[in-house]
Amino acid sequence: MNLDTSYLGLKLRNPLVASAGPMTQTADRIERLVEAGVGAVVLPSLFEEQIRAEADRDERLAEVGIDSFGEAMTYLIDPDASIWPRQYLGLIERAAGYGVPLIASLNGSTVGGWTDYARAMQDAGAAAIELNIYYLPADLAATSPVSARDNEQRYIDIVTMVKSAVSVPVAVKLTPYFSSLGEMAVCLDRAGADGLVLFNRFMQTDINPDTLTISTGFKLSSPGEATVARSWIARLRGQLRASLAASTGVETADDVVAYLLAGADVVMTTSSLLRHGPAHVAVLLDGLAAWMEGKGFGGIGEVRGLLAAEADAAGPGYGRSGYLSAVQQVTRVHGR
Ligand SMILES: Cc1cc2nc3c(=O)[nH]c(=O)nc-3n(C[C@H](O)[C@H](O)[C@H](O)COP(=O)(O)O)c2cc1C
Repeated sequence: MNLDTSYLGLKLRNPLVASAGPMTQTADRIERLVEAGVGAVVLPSLFEEQIRAEADRDERLAEVGIDSFGEAMTYLIDPDASIWPRQYLGLIERAAGYGVPLIASLNGSTVGGWTDYARAMQDAGAAAIELNIYYLPADLAATSPVSARDNEQRYIDIVTMVKSAVSVPVAVKLTPYFSSLGEMAVCLDRAGADGLVLFNRFMQTDINPDTLTISTGFKLSSPGEATVARSWIARLRGQLRASLAASTGVETADDVVAYLLAGADVVMTTSSLLRHGPAHVAVLLDGLAAWMEGKGFGGIGEVRGLLAAEADAAGPGYGRSGYLSAVQQVTRVHGR
């Protein structure tokens, strides 16, 4: 079965992408994912804070001078914080030759010089940049708390800066938490984003009543979490120039199929690879191919967007009519 497709204008052998996470953190792991068949790989994020730490380190080393280099290395420098950016570029250089597009990821929240690092990633061989803008406008005690407009403008400004630094495509990984996500998607599209990744999954802090402590609240995702991203992809399909990538809740081949039917150009997975290892790539791809064959589809283009919102305008689908029929259905079943 031919699963060829494209994403961000790049040619991919299939629409399954290993998203940012521990499975894409080393050259060996990336090689195993490529051998297992993934269409593309997104590296874990390089954080704005890590880039700043590297810049600080360089500055301090320049200040202490060559004679006290050893002392500086020992006492002044936090090696873990500052060395990763350079290792990251080395990882790109190595893994860019593995035969599938390698997408580097930048994670930040302010408009600043760190966005120049996108250029270094491109020069090291990244086929595209994924921009994960993680900003929580939660400082309500500030003299002027951040307005929804300012918050959204920040995203657009960062995208504009990164776009001006590179010639490779730039995707933006979004959260669903905007006052008007549809408008945000249109604005990012107009600002030049080549792709939108729906969605980033926050590692939200949680509370443990037994131990009376705060925890990271981290859990791998489950397929039930995919519905928000899937509904938004179905709504955005055909409305934007940007490609659409699905991220969250893929566990089985059916989850991949459902995202493609909604209109995703590619389907990403992290949790399922952490749960089952790289061999799971073949399970997902074989399941996708078998489903397409069973339904008589000859290529990904025939499947993509078949159940996007416009295909469903009259039915009980993604809008309020779908909401109403869901409420009626659940009431019929459980309301007696
Ligand atoms: C342990 C872990 C580390 C992650 N690190 C990153 C990261 O560095 N950058 C990023 O954009 N997303 C990161 N993610 C988010 C994943 O790329 C993905 O968007 C999210 O887990 C939802 O997909 P899933 O349901 O397939 O896990 C991470 C996820 C996990 C589980």
